[in-house]
Amino acid sequence: MVVVNLILTVIVMMATQIQGYVQQVNLPPSEESYKILFMVPGNFPSHVKIILTVATALADRGHQISVIGGSLATQHPNITYLYNPDFSEAIKKYKYFDTAGDGWKHIEHTRNLIASAFESAYASEEFMDVYRRRKEFDLMVVDHLALIGLAPFLHESPFIIYCTTMLNPLQSANIGNIHSPAVLSSSVTDYRQPYSALDRLRNLFATLAFAVIWSIILRSKVDSEVISKRFPDVPSSYELEKNASLTLINTHFSLDGPIPLLPNQVMVAGMLLRPERPLPEKIDSFVRGNASTILFSTGTFIRLNTMPKKLKEMFFSVFSKLPYKIVMKYHAEPGEFTNVTNIHFLDWIPQSDILAHANTKLFISHCGVNGVQEAVYYGVPMICIPVQGDHHKMAEMVHHRGLGIRLEWKKFSEEILNQSIHEIITNTSYRDKVHEVSLMWRDQMESPLQRAVYWVEYVARFRGAPHLRSPAMDLSLIQIFYLDLLLVIHLFMYVTYRIVFRRPSFHFSSMYRNLKRFFGFSQEGARLKIE
Ligand SMILES: *[C@@H]1O[C@H](CO)[C@@H](O)[C@H](O)[C@H]1NC(C)=O
Ligand SMILES: *[C@@H]1O[C@H](CO)[C@@H](O)[C@H](O)[C@H]1NC(C)=O
Ligand SMILES: *[C@@H]1O[C@H](CO)[C@@H](O)[C@H](O)[C@H]1NC(C)=O
Ligand SMILES: *[C@@H]1O[C@H](CO)[C@@H](O)[C@H](O)[C@H]1NC(C)=O
Ligand SMILES: *[C@@H]1O[C@H](CO)[C@@H](O)[C@H](O)[C@H]1NC(C)=O
Ligand SMILES: *[C@@H]1O[C@H](CO)[C@@H](O)[C@H](O)[C@H]1NC(C)=O
Repeated sequence: MVVVNLILTVIVMMATQIQGYVQQVNLPPSEESYKILFMVPGNFPSHVKIILTVATALADRGHQISVIGGSLATQHPNITYLYNPDFSEAIKKYKYFDTAGDGWKHIEHTRNLIASAFESAYASEEFMDVYRRRKEFDLMVVDHLALIGLAPFLHESPFIIYCTTMLNPLQSANIGNIHSPAVLSSSVTDYRQPYSALDRLRNLFATLAFAVIWSIILRSKVDSEVISKRFPDVPSSYELEKNASLTLINTHFSLDGPIPLLPNQVMVAGMLLRPERPLPEKIDSFVRGNASTILFSTGTFIRLNTMPKKLKEMFFSVFSKLPYKIVMKYHAEPGEFTNVTNIHFLDWIPQSDILAHANTKLFISHCGVNGVQEAVYYGVPMICIPVQGDHHKMAEMVHHRGLGIRLEWKKFSEEILNQSIHEIITNTSYRDKVHEVSLMWRDQMESPLQRAVYWVEYVARFRGAPHLRSPAMDLSLIQIFYLDLLLVIHLFMYVTYRIVFRRPSFHFSSMYRNLKRFFGFSQEGARLKIE
């Protein structure tokens, strides 16, 4: 890792044209070495990659890091992998394109996947061994997605939550920062300004629906079927979530807009972003030349190979007629599409380095949070074809901010795809807009990684940093929104009214008559005045 860092630093120094922050941690050495347990949902590459970046930076600083759930991607003398669940079979079986646009099917699948993953985790001796040793750690860092099933670990221990998918309004409210749905968009939809009454209503509904799905439908199955059976004395994950010392959030105001945050809610979006590295020779020789390049990738989780045949053929038909080159993350079967010469198929792609290449003019993707962040950072406009959950929110954001075009799998046609590709490549407004956001994003005081490392050490240093806890945690919703006092004020007004008007009961007609009498005008008088 030290060698990699050195090489990176040298590359950064050579490439002086690169503007913006570098993922370095320029902090004085930590006085103490802490034992930190990282808990990540295994096999979700986008989550694992980000969280292991923080884990590695902390390990470099001499802390002893243990990981449950991460893949063994990063080897480091100070990182120990304790338990690694394997969902690869469950993931392979799942056909994303069958549920694209069918939210309920996807929720049902996720709910079963999470419950069965935790069921097998708690049945494993390795996992239970970590559970028994949990008090040895000074601090735990837990992915918000994995928290659902990890309540027993977090009970009576200090921990930090990592939200990989932007700010989660429900989780924020649970630690004392309640945002009004009138301004903060829900986890699954994005807002267009100015806010219309219909938009506000839509967002209120989406926020409440997400809260119900998350806390009742997703959480309850794990709580009731996995946790409470084995650990009857442990509070629910929802209760324990309130005890989080800090939240690291994959968000930044230049992309997601300004959001009021507590001191223990820290924005760390962009930890994976770094200056580009040269492309591998094979890709470089394909991309080199005058033609614009399009990158088409839907990450590791949603495999383009599982696309229905009809959809595949549409893409290839459009691509083969374009005067551009296409790099595509796709495992081409022997003999498949060999007649299309302007597509380069790859099983694995160095996504950020391709996006950073000067010829790359368009990124077609499902619009996952990390992919959008990378594209914006390197200034590449997008075509978003969202599959589920927060992809829709990101796609709407990309569309509203003019960073790209949003398409739907269900309304897909060759003509729409062809037109959208030409529009993005020939109309410079998308590229200009992305460049503007990129400059705003790169302009930061310290790297997001340094911010994350600083705050994790801070919480360990102050043993859970209870002084950061929001005072709102000691009040109920009724008290925060003054509902109790509003009731008193209304009662007071009503009683005053009754005393002033001395009426035995409340009737609108009698109130009207009384008002007339009180202010001394009659209907005739009022009419005369109007005339
Ligand atoms: C691992 O931690 C020790 C201190 O606990 C530190 O001296 C060493 O430099 C760390 N190793 C690496 C490769 O950073
Ligand atoms: C909350 O966290 C503190 C440490 O930060 C710990 O002492 C306390 O027991 C925790 N409470 C619960 C209910 O887990
Ligand atoms: C690139 O474009 C220039 C002029 O625009 C042309 O002279 C040159 O041959 C082109 N190179 C390739 C590899 O197509
Ligand atoms: C390429 O081959 C596929 C079958 O593998 C066919 O469907 C497609 O029409 C061909 N495309 C061109 C441009 O010839
Ligand atoms: C794709 O769109 C471009 C620009 O609108 C147009 O010139 C071209 O003919 C279209 N190609 C096909 C195959 O429809
Ligand atoms: C380019 O796109 C922007 C945003 O969609 C639009 O307002 C503008 O009219 C387009 N320009 C041209 C020349 O089509």
